[in-house]
Amino acid sequence: MIAGRRRPEREDRLVNPSASTVEPDHFRHVLGHFATGVTAVTALDPASNRPVGLTVNSFASVSLRPPLVSFCVGRGSGSWPIMRTADRLCVNILGVEQQAVCERMATARVDRFRGLDWELSPGGAPVLAGVVAWVEGAVEAEHDAGDHVIVVLRVHHLHGRPDGQPLLFLRGRYGRFAH
Ligand SMILES: Cc1cc2nc3c(=O)[nH]c(=O)nc-3n(C[C@H](O)[C@H](O)[C@H](O)COP(=O)(O)O)c2cc1C
Repeated sequence: MIAGRRRPEREDRLVNPSASTVEPDHFRHVLGHFATGVTAVTALDPASNRPVGLTVNSFASVSLRPPLVSFCVGRGSGSWPIMRTADRLCVNILGVEQQAVCERMATARVDRFRGLDWELSPGGAPVLAGVVAWVEGAVEAEHDAGDHVIVVLRVHHLHGRPDGQPLLFLRGRYGRFAH
């Protein structure tokens, strides 16, 4: 440890908001330099059997054994309280032609699935037509993380299209991978 500098207790760092002075706009701007793909996380509402979903770019691969993936959901999400009750969820990795799907799945007060083709994965979660890959799993854990919840899924089925061109997201803009 550097003399005179005490590393904050773990609890201070996680709970005490005054432990950091980073402005949210600056945080968002700088983190936007990290290029991601874009996914639509979907499930069937167990109460109505209707599909629910939202756009998510915080998706990540976590563990091979057991197979785990993660994504983060905002605490204000209207869909998550429904989706977390489903047996299976599907992370749909969107193709470069699916920017409209991405935008629709992030829009409030619309029927997000209207006009979209989808079918059920082996475990019973909606797989959107035209996605480059999909990953179906069950909620393994939820971890509180500030204004988001980190969701860990245990993967049960997954599939990728070898010719799939993913939609990319960087600094608030959409794009494609140039070979
Ligand atoms: C490119 C993109 C990526 C997004 N990533 C996330 C994310 O990782 N987690 C999240 O909670 N919301 C994310 N959002 C925002 C949600 O999709 C959006 O707030 C949506 O309306 C939430 O719907 P809900 O309230 O029905 O859950 C993203 C939106 C866009 C356009």
